[in-house]
Amino acid sequence: MGSGQPVIQSSLTMDEVWDLYRRDLEEIESHIRHNLNAEAPLINEIAAHILEGGGKRIRPLLLSLCYRLTGSIPKNDLVLGSLIEFIHTATLLHDDVLDEAALRRGRPTARRIWGNRASILAGDYLYSRAMHHIAAFKNHEVNDAMALACKRLAEGEILQLCANRQPLLSESEYLRIVEYKTGALLAAACKVGGLMGGVSPLQAEELYQFGLNLGIAFQLADDWLDYTANEKNLGKTLGQDLMQGMVTLPLIHVLPCLPADDQRTLVAKIERNAVEEGDLLQLTAHMHQHGSLGYTRTRSREYIETALLNLATFEDSTAKRALIVVADYMVNRDC
Ligand code: IPE
Ligand code: IPE
Ligand code: MG
Ligand code: MG
Repeated sequence: MGSGQPVIQSSLTMDEVWDLYRRDLEEIESHIRHNLNAEAPLINEIAAHILEGGGKRIRPLLLSLCYRLTGSIPKNDLVLGSLIEFIHTATLLHDDVLDEAALRRGRPTARRIWGNRASILAGDYLYSRAMHHIAAFKNHEVNDAMALACKRLAEGEILQLCANRQPLLSESEYLRIVEYKTGALLAAACKVGGLMGGVSPLQAEELYQFGLNLGIAFQLADDWLDYTANEKNLGKTLGQDLMQGMVTLPLIHVLPCLPADDQRTLVAKIERNAVEEGDLLQLTAHMHQHGSLGYTRTRSREYIETALLNLATFEDSTAKRALIVVADYMVNRDC
């Protein structure tokens, strides 16, 4: 069972938020463990490898906080947080195949241990396992929100695949990919939490938009972290986006700032899949010089500010204050 509504705090830090909602998160963690019960042992092995590797559990946390916005106290329905984490994990298993990634959550990726085929099938299982369990709630709005998120995720990843090695991708095309591949699931986590907590239809829509804006900001942060983070904290290999031909906002911003010759050379290298380690170092230096990482940060903060406006319809509560802290953490994190 989830804990009762915590006492209102005047100001909170992210550590205090994790701590206040620890019981909800522990409950979600126990659902994750109990629901890893596929008949095929290989699925459980792969899923356990990635799920036990850690992960911030930001989507389940958002679900729990949005649930509590109305003062409702989650009961057994926190299992939905674990199902959202299953869907997120499925996207990671698939994404690491697409991006040929070597590291995830500080561990070798599943594809490196079990291969691409097993990773894809384990991801498929987690998606369908989650949707099957969600259907048992017989809540049309919850089903609809989750199914839409899965559809968007797939569209986002395929749009990104089609944009691969196309360095002249526009900022608006990039933002649509980000909205679909990352925003949609965070939006669903917030909306589903709110729906289970009994928000009005209007508030459910506000929570959807809140999560969507948060998700876009979160992915922008992920994209600058790929160029600048500490690899150990991040648990993923740095510089992968450029090396894999993934065009993200720091690159879109810096390209027109480069001298024409350098720009042509880099575009050709990205298109031909010929980017080398030295190019990455040079490009990162240019990004610092031309404010491309700062630009990405500013854009992501704008999305957070818009997200906070979506919370205006909710009365003050500890859960609302916690959501504001989480919103800030989305773009001020190092992992
Ligand atoms: C990684 O998501 C994929 C993106 C959408 C950027 P997270 O950063 O939430 O990954 P974990 O769950 O904490 O590992
Ligand atoms: C997010 O994109 C992928 C998903 C939505 C699954 P990335 O490819 O940037 O995510 P990471 O950096 O591998 O976690
Ligand atoms: Mg990736
Ligand atoms: Mg990334």
